[in-house]
Amino acid sequence: MAKLAFLGLGVMGFPMSGHLAKAGHEVTVYNRTTAKAEAWAAEHGGAWAATPAEAAKGAEFVMACVGNDDDLRDVCTGGGGAFSGMDKGSVFVDHTTVSAKVTRELHEVAAAAGIGFVDAPISGGQAGAENGVLSIMCGGEEAQYDRAEPVMAAYARICRRIGGPGAGQMTKMCNQIAIAGLVQGLSEALHFAEKAGLDGRAVVEVISQGAAGSWQMANRYETMLDDHFDHGFAVDWMRKDLGICLATGNETGASLPVTALVDQFYKDVQNMGGGRWDTSSLIKRLRALG
Ligand SMILES: NC(=O)c1ccc[n+]([C@@H]2O[C@H](COP(=O)([O-])OP(=O)(O)OC[C@H]3O[C@@H](n4cnc5c(N)ncnc54)[C@H](OP(=O)(O)O)[C@@H]3O)[C@@H](O)[C@H]2O)c1
Repeated sequence: MAKLAFLGLGVMGFPMSGHLAKAGHEVTVYNRTTAKAEAWAAEHGGAWAATPAEAAKGAEFVMACVGNDDDLRDVCTGGGGAFSGMDKGSVFVDHTTVSAKVTRELHEVAAAAGIGFVDAPISGGQAGAENGVLSIMCGGEEAQYDRAEPVMAAYARICRRIGGPGAGQMTKMCNQIAIAGLVQGLSEALHFAEKAGLDGRAVVEVISQGAAGSWQMANRYETMLDDHFDHGFAVDWMRKDLGICLATGNETGASLPVTALVDQFYKDVQNMGGGRWDTSSLIKRLRALG
């Protein structure tokens, strides 16, 4: 069992760090909004700290799940950042979805201080975090990954190292590109069923068993039919992710026409006030169009 720190107790980080405590690790959490850290400590019996550096003191592994590139820079190298509190030989494991660029930049800063850095973005949604069955795609040096993998096992169904620094984030981009068009397709199918006067639940019961079945269909069709989006993976985060995918596509020369289109649809959802709605709210946009 290891001494750990976990930075960022949002939709994903709160349950993930809970799994680490339940697995028997000694966990100290940090959250920008202190009330969430206090609530976590009351629920799981661990400790909380006022800054990332304090949380990281003496920890063998520091895990993070914050928002975007700037947030990650803040908790790593900003005032009271984790790197300043970490010991040589410890490992920073980043579960945030960020660019490969900031990942490689922070990997270098960490390496200069004798700290390991594994990029380890996640997929599986809120339910995957709560049930400890996330897919974790990793990048970094093999030796650092091998040390971190048994710790991440507390909330993973599958955890794989794809390559060197940034390879985990590049894989997460593949994941988001695959999801974007899929959620729009699912939204159009359910919207079509509504317009045709079909029973949406009966439609999904049949088609989910055939070639159209997907994680999104299995996990989101009921809330989509019920017009309920106050949960899950926020549209604001999806736009952040698709922005990273489109910028990286430009750099690599990959053509991403559907991803670019769906990104604009999510912009419409934001303009409808849905920045914190789940990404399946693309159907709400279609309903609004008539
Ligand atoms: N939700 C999902 O289904 C899902 C799935 C896969 C990947 N992800 C990715 O995982 C990350 C977290 O997602 P989430 O849904 O858990 O987000 P969330 O609920 O909005 O939580 C974000 C967390 O980051 C903290 N934070 C943000 N900016 C910060 C800063 N500058 N300094 C310190 N702390 C900061 C927030 O603190 P406060 O409490 O103070 O705001 C909060 O604890 C994102 O990169 C997202 O893209 C999410």
